[in-house]
Amino acid sequence: MMDEKAIMSEALREIEQRRNRAKAQNIARFEEIERNIPEISEINSQLAKTGMKIISVIREGKNVSERIERLKTENLGAQQMISKLLRSHGYPEDYLKMRYSCNKCEDKGFVDNSRCSCLTRLIAQITAREMNKNSQIKLCSFNTFDLSLCHGIDESSTEQCRKTMSMIFKFCKNYADNFSLSSGNIFMFGKTGLGKTHLSLSIANEVLTKGYNVLYDSVLNYLDSIEKEHFGRDSSGNDTLNRLLSADLLILDDLGTEYDKQFYISTMYTVINTRLNRSLPTIITTNLSHEQMLKKYDDRIISRLYAMYETLEFAGRDVRLTKRQMEKR
Ligand SMILES: Nc1ncnc2c1ncn2[C@@H]1O[C@H](COP(=O)(O)OP(=O)(O)OP(=O)(O)O)[C@@H](O)[C@H]1O
Ligand SMILES: [Mg+2]
Ligand SMILES: [Zn+2]
Repeated sequence: MMDEKAIMSEALREIEQRRNRAKAQNIARFEEIERNIPEISEINSQLAKTGMKIISVIREGKNVSERIERLKTENLGAQQMISKLLRSHGYPEDYLKMRYSCNKCEDKGFVDNSRCSCLTRLIAQITAREMNKNSQIKLCSFNTFDLSLCHGIDESSTEQCRKTMSMIFKFCKNYADNFSLSSGNIFMFGKTGLGKTHLSLSIANEVLTKGYNVLYDSVLNYLDSIEKEHFGRDSSGNDTLNRLLSADLLILDDLGTEYDKQFYISTMYTVINTRLNRSLPTIITTNLSHEQMLKKYDDRIISRLYAMYETLEFAGRDVRLTKRQMEKR
């Protein structure tokens, strides 16, 4: 995991690249126009001379403001002329303007010495990318989800199982397609091997490509990092808890596999509760049964999960087993 400083310099490098790209694209558009509309390059060189003229007017010191005003009017006229020529050749009027990724800071990353929102966003994205590096996030997508792999516990229940799984699939796909910061929370229930991780990672992939910062990992890994940072056994300066509390979308996989430690339970409560208070979407998966959930977590967590999360109950027979049996045949 990169530390904060390395992430910052990576972000600034990316912003510099955006700025250079904007410049290069602008130069390319100028060259294209010079080729296609030679009149414009003539006007442009006139415009370039205006600056020199203004300087000599100031040097001469006679009727300065009046003459500068006149030059400015000429200048404006020339610019309007360019717009008109562009339009008549089928280009948009502002074709020669710089086009930045971020107009607020013109791809500098800062406005009046404070961080531009584009830089903040980029830092969050790089952080998410780094944190997700070790997970199998790339392997799972909606495209590789196959309903024919879903079977009932016995053959007579296969049809019902596919109906359920098809509804869950559609719900998840729809959630990913329409994701926004005001999307709801999802609680995925069900026995092992039914596709909970697969579908939650599919959502993560799609939401990541929309440019949101998505954190995905198992509850176990997160709690481990948070514990080490909390008790000072990790000096990297990382603040995993804070990142979990502020990610655009947080996916906590495999709730219930952690030990019953007071620190773990209270950390989970903080994460769930704070994100609800901030209205930030969270997805949690577990293969605990309802009874096991009730036994393991106190009412504060249970009531929040059951009341504030959309519950999806996965059904059927372990797909890992089905796949293995198919390979043997
Ligand atoms: N309908 C499906 N189509 C294709 N692959 C599937 C499907 N369902 C599950 N899989 C695959 O089967 C394996 C097990 O699924 P997954 O890891 O998502 O299960 P899970 O519900 O998260 O189980 P656990 O509770 O043990 O974590 C994965 O390799 C996953 O890609
Ligand atoms: Mg899983
Ligand atoms: Zn910006």
